[in-house]
Amino acid sequence: MSRTNLTSLQKMKVEQDKITVLTAYDASFSHALEQAGIDIILVGDSLGMVIQGQESTLPVTVDDMVYHTANVVRGTEQVFVIADLPFMSYANVEQAIKNSARLMAEGGAQMVKLEGGQVVLDIIQQLVERGIPVCAHLGLLPQSVHRLGGYRVQGRDQTSADQLIVDAKAVQAAGAAMLVIECVPATLAKQITDAVDIPVIGIGAGKDCDGQVLVLYDMLGLTPGRRPRFSHDFLADTGAIPAAIAKYVVDVKSATFPSEAQQF
Ligand code: KIV
Repeated sequence: MSRTNLTSLQKMKVEQDKITVLTAYDASFSHALEQAGIDIILVGDSLGMVIQGQESTLPVTVDDMVYHTANVVRGTEQVFVIADLPFMSYANVEQAIKNSARLMAEGGAQMVKLEGGQVVLDIIQQLVERGIPVCAHLGLLPQSVHRLGGYRVQGRDQTSADQLIVDAKAVQAAGAAMLVIECVPATLAKQITDAVDIPVIGIGAGKDCDGQVLVLYDMLGLTPGRRPRFSHDFLADTGAIPAAIAKYVVDVKSATFPSEAQQF
């Protein structure tokens, strides 16, 4: 059985069929996600916080990502799997190629994700030229949390909003085949989604993106502390994990998630 590929995900954007994405870090959950009909699993470096109990994603290593990606891939047969390149694992082209190759060859990922705009354009181009599909990540960049001064909504003023649109077009021109935008106002997220041809997956970015992603443990209400405003506890709604994941898929597909209350 073959896995979902970029061609079918690209077609979903054109046909306005919302793309459903959740994070997972192990085989049992990735199997449950696939059974519920999720389109993409992201092995996010959020695992540093929700699996390892770290304060940020910064301590996550390439070895950690390879290990969790391989576990996720083993739990699935068809779903498209994206793996995060962790902090400083793509600081130069050579490192980016070596570490992406590990995520794909040892982990089994079909795409790698990296954070940033202008500063990573050359890296995106070089990866894509070597056959490595790239998802860019703009808006709130968790790997830059200390520079950003916390987990804050991005693109609120005109200058930074304009820059995000420029960055979105630039990462597409460099060869990125997908874009995640995190914590930006919903009106800006719609402008970005309309400005590029590649699928745009939002988290805290309103309902007009081509798809939605959440951290699995947030949407199951398991993450300790305060849940982000843009997330929702689907397990509280349904009382069972498979039903919670299935409800997320239905709510994203029908554009009932995220609601007005879950956007900025
Ligand atoms: O690491 C992660 O889980 C992510 C999502 C928040 C998009 O990058």
